Amino acid sequence: MAGAEAIGRPSVGHWGLQSIVRAAAVCLSLVICLVRCTDCAKPSNIVFILTDDQDVVLGGMTPVKKAKALIGDAGVYFSNAFAVTPLCCPSRSSILTGRYPHNHEQAAVPDLLRGKYLNQYGKKEAGDVAYVPPGWDQWHALVGNSQYYNYTLSVNGKEEKHGDSYDTDYLTDLIVNRSLRFLDDRSPQHPFFMMLSPPAPHSPWTAAPQYAKTFSNVKAPRDGSFDKPGKDKHWLLRQPLNPMTNSSIDFLDNAFRRRWQTLLSVDDLVEKVVQKLQDIKELNNTYVFFSSDHGYHTGQFSLPIDKRQLYEFDIRVPLMVRGPGIKPSQTLKDPVLNIDFGPTFLDIAGINLTEVNMDGQSFLPQMAPSLRNGTSRPYFLVEYTGEGHSAPDPACPKLGPGLSQCFPDCVCEDAFNNTYACVRTLTNYNMQYCEFADQESFVEVYNLTSDPHQLENIVKKGGRDLDPLLRLLSTFQWE
Ligand SMILES: *[C@@H]1O[C@H](CO)[C@@H](O)[C@H](O)[C@H]1NC(C)=O
Ligand SMILES: *[C@@H]1O[C@H](CO)[C@@H](O)[C@H](O)[C@H]1NC(C)=O
Ligand SMILES: *[C@@H]1O[C@H](CO)[C@@H](O)[C@H](O)[C@H]1NC(C)=O
Ligand SMILES: *[C@@H]1O[C@H](CO)[C@@H](O)[C@H](O)[C@H]1NC(C)=O
Ligand SMILES: *[C@@H]1O[C@H](CO)[C@@H](O)[C@H](O)[C@H]1NC(C)=O
Ligand SMILES: *[C@@H]1O[C@H](CO)[C@@H](O)[C@H](O)[C@H]1NC(C)=O
Ligand SMILES: *[C@@H]1O[C@H](CO)[C@@H](O)[C@H](O)[C@H]1NC(C)=O
Ligand SMILES: *[C@@H]1O[C@H](CO)[C@@H](O)[C@H](O)[C@H]1NC(C)=O
Repeated sequence: MAGAEAIGRPSVGHWGLQSIVRAAAVCLSLVICLVRCTDCAKPSNIVFILTDDQDVVLGGMTPVKKAKALIGDAGVYFSNAFAVTPLCCPSRSSILTGRYPHNHEQAAVPDLLRGKYLNQYGKKEAGDVAYVPPGWDQWHALVGNSQYYNYTLSVNGKEEKHGDSYDTDYLTDLIVNRSLRFLDDRSPQHPFFMMLSPPAPHSPWTAAPQYAKTFSNVKAPRDGSFDKPGKDKHWLLRQPLNPMTNSSIDFLDNAFRRRWQTLLSVDDLVEKVVQKLQDIKELNNTYVFFSSDHGYHTGQFSLPIDKRQLYEFDIRVPLMVRGPGIKPSQTLKDPVLNIDFGPTFLDIAGINLTEVNMDGQSFLPQMAPSLRNGTSRPYFLVEYTGEGHSAPDPACPKLGPGLSQCFPDCVCEDAFNNTYACVRTLTNYNMQYCEFADQESFVEVYNLTSDPHQLENIVKKGGRDLDPLLRLLSTFQWE
């Protein structure tokens, strides 16, 4: 692609791996990086909209109708997009470093890449609000974890406190307003990379006032693995009460509804940003990405609400992209992972990926075959390290003091031994094989073709059914 080649070359230093890696260290809300170039014939911009906790399996895309029309229908939907780790901060690090969590520490700034730092942005221990990672021209980052009101931002290194007035403080809208202002004021000769991370639909699920009554009759879907017992699964999944109590069900239905309400503001965000790109005549020159850091569950296997599990509802994410060279109304089955975003952005910018040490690969060839050649991967790794340390300090309140992840009726959603690695195959075999680092060395295997909801762990069946998968595993490189 002529344009991309022109953007990237002069800009490697400015839009380098290091700044991208550093940016991963916060749950950022709006960051803009201007890519300088001296000789850009047709520079392409990138707008990356990354929601927080938005599932794709349980209908999480239903509320964002305008976003689907303006991005997916105008470009491509990926029907097999996955997070390699179903938790916010490791996933966001992977998105911006292009690496698996087990490889984050080899990155340029290892001290910032340990999962738990990410929710600590702006706190004293993590370097204070004055810290702005290099490479970003505009930096608006949220201090601490997701909030819609009563939060503090680091605005280019200066602390900015916000209260709870809708007109001045609602975070999703504030991100919109600042993005629009940036697009109006930008210097026209410079292509830009703009990343917008609204808090939605993460808890505390605070809807904009005009949406607080929408979806009042909506409930979490009751099909698939909803409230199914996890008796043949790993230790954590064997603990929840089944069937769930009514209070758990009321709680998760309320969460489900409120998640959708917060997404209506994200839908407005997409509409306004795309409209502005059109107004400034940059829309045909901009790649717009829409995705989420990981999926979510509401009642699956009797777990009320959370993420962190190896199942489809937690690891699958929405992904749609429009931009130069991408034909409209396509649905692509090629597997795409969160570690592929970094390489794809760099590829669009024309940076030579063989010189960048990332685990992921660019999916520009799949989206825009007229611009790049490339093949997609046949299988991939999913990995997660459970929170909590070890007995006697597991992660759940039921089990000990000082613990988090307690939801209604104290169902435990995570523990230190919820630590696993899986191989997921999509080409030839639609299967998943997972091993746990727990006292049982537990193994789960699913045939997603016959059992899309992962109701039956077929490891015990053994025999010929598993032969092809086991043969494949024997060739798999655990890099
Ligand atoms: C914001 O903080 C104020 C002062 O502590 C409090 O009264 C208000 O309820 C908070 N608003 C929200 C939405 O949490
Ligand atoms: C965003 O801008 C609109 C239009 O100017 C304004 O009505 C709204 O109050 C602003 N919201 C925030 C949170 O800044
Ligand atoms: C729980 O909800 C069901 C369905 O609404 C109802 O039939 C049942 O009586 C409730 N159980 C309790 C203990 O409230
Ligand atoms: C984008 O559209 C403008 C007119 O709005 C046109 O001048 C320009 O050549 C187009 N750019 C591309 C890359 O198609
Ligand atoms: C990319 O870098 C590699 C290794 O430095 C080099 O062999 C290759 O020719 C480069 N490709 C392009 C298109 O510049
Ligand atoms: C893709 O590969 C084919 C066959 O080698 C070649 O003819 C074509 O130019 C390549 N396309 C791009 C965009 O590199
Ligand atoms: C997981 O950890 C809990 C809490 O320490 C412990 O009770 C349980 O036996 C462990 N299970 C496995 C399979 O390691
Ligand atoms: C998975 O299920 C499909 C459909 O029932 C079946 O054809 C296939 O043989 C199964 N694969 C394995 C490895 O069990």
